Amino acid sequence: MLEQDVKKVLFTEEELEQIVSRLGSEITEAYRNKNLLLIGILKGCVVFMSDLMRHIDLKCRIDFMAVSSYGAGTKSSGNVRILKDLDIDLTGFDVLLVEDILDSGNTLFYVRSLLATRGAKSVRICTLLDKPSRRTADIRADFVGSEIGDEFVIGYGLDFDEKYRNLPYLGVPYPYVYSGE
Ligand code: IMP
Ligand code: MG
Repeated sequence: MLEQDVKKVLFTEEELEQIVSRLGSEITEAYRNKNLLLIGILKGCVVFMSDLMRHIDLKCRIDFMAVSSYGAGTKSSGNVRILKDLDIDLTGFDVLLVEDILDSGNTLFYVRSLLATRGAKSVRICTLLDKPSRRTADIRADFVGSEIGDEFVIGYGLDFDEKYRNLPYLGVPYPYVYSGE
C-alpha cells in the first residue's frame, strides 16, 4: 500500500538507527554541563526526535513548535508562519532545534532568529538530513545525520502532502506521487 509508491530506499530502519544513535552520543557529549532543551519542529521531527531523545543520556526537557512554509508542494515558499508556539520560557536554556531536513534553510533561519530574541543561552541545530545544494539562507546545522543530494524524500516523519510520515524508513517516491503539483 505505502511501499508501492517508493522508487528507492535511501536509508533502511537499521541505517537510521545507527545514524540516530551516533547523533545521540555527539549531543550527550556536547551538552554534558549544559541545560538542554530539545525543541522539535513539527510535524517532520516526530519520529526522529522520539528516537533521538532516547539516545541522549542527559536530563533534558522537550518542547515543540509548528511552523509552515510549504503547503502541498515540494519546494519552500519562503514564507514562514508560526502555527504552534512554545510552552516553555527559554531563559537560561541551551536550546537544540531538532529538524527533519534542512533544505533551503528558510524555516530554520526564521525560527533561530526568533528564538535568539527570547533569552536562550545558546541555540544550535540538529537535523537528520541536510541538502546543502539547495541552501539559500545563511544557516548551517551543528549536528547532521547525513547529507543527501537534491532529491525529494519521504518517510520516517517526512511527508509529501501530509502523507508517508509513517513509512518506517526513508525513501524516494516515484515521480507520479508529486507530478500533479
Ligand atoms: P526549508 O525551509 O526549505 O529548509 O525546508 C524545511 C522543511 O521543508 C523541512 O522541515 C521539511 O518539512 C520540508 N522538506 C524539505 N525537503 C523535503 C523533502 O525532501 N521531503 C519532505 N519534506 C521536505
Ligand atoms: Mg515538513
